[in-house]
Amino acid sequence: KRVVAFISGGGSNMLALAKAAEAPDFPAEIVAVFSDKAEAGGLAKAKALGIATRVFLRRDFASKEAHEAAILDALDALSPDILCLAGYMRLLSGAFIQRHEGRILNIHPSLLPLFPGLNTHQRVIDAGMRIAGCTVHFVTEGMDEGPVIVQAAVPVLPADTADTLAARVLTVEHRSYPLALRLVAEGKVRMEDGRAVASGAL
Ligand code: GRF
Repeated sequence: KRVVAFISGGGSNMLALAKAAEAPDFPAEIVAVFSDKAEAGGLAKAKALGIATRVFLRRDFASKEAHEAAILDALDALSPDILCLAGYMRLLSGAFIQRHEGRILNIHPSLLPLFPGLNTHQRVIDAGMRIAGCTVHFVTEGMDEGPVIVQAAVPVLPADTADTLAARVLTVEHRSYPLALRLVAEGKVRMEDGRAVASGAL
């Protein structure tokens, strides 16, 4: 399966996917990395792995629709089977999601439906949670609310700060996203009627 990854920053999740995809038995390859930020650190990581990169700056376009149209046209030329949002900090419009319904994955650094949105680690600590984690889900029109594919939990320790918790969650993000991509690329999990459906033994 052909995958295009979307990043806005360091791209550690994109790198985890690209590394996993290097395994000969992995059922997907990252054919390109798209970013909305020219300075995204993940672009250099992708280039170092020989993966094509494209930058689409919002300010280069008159509207959100024009920005997305350029991205959608570039995607059509690549014919991807799956889009992986990996630290992509821009909301996709309903039209964009409908165009690729059931084929867009995202990773969120909390155990959804708890703590959607931003600054999840500080909010988890402030709420007194004793576990935290990440969620890989299908992207639907609502933010951070699509059907869950994979989740992983980590402990919240008494001395944790948002940074120490973020680092611990990242370690399981980097295992969860490749697993989720494998399941979707192999057709073992798909989105049907707005739900994640497992087909066959996982
Ligand atoms: C990660 O916590 C990810 O879950 C969130 O952005 C953070 C940085 O991701 N979406 P990355 O290192 O850019 O993949």
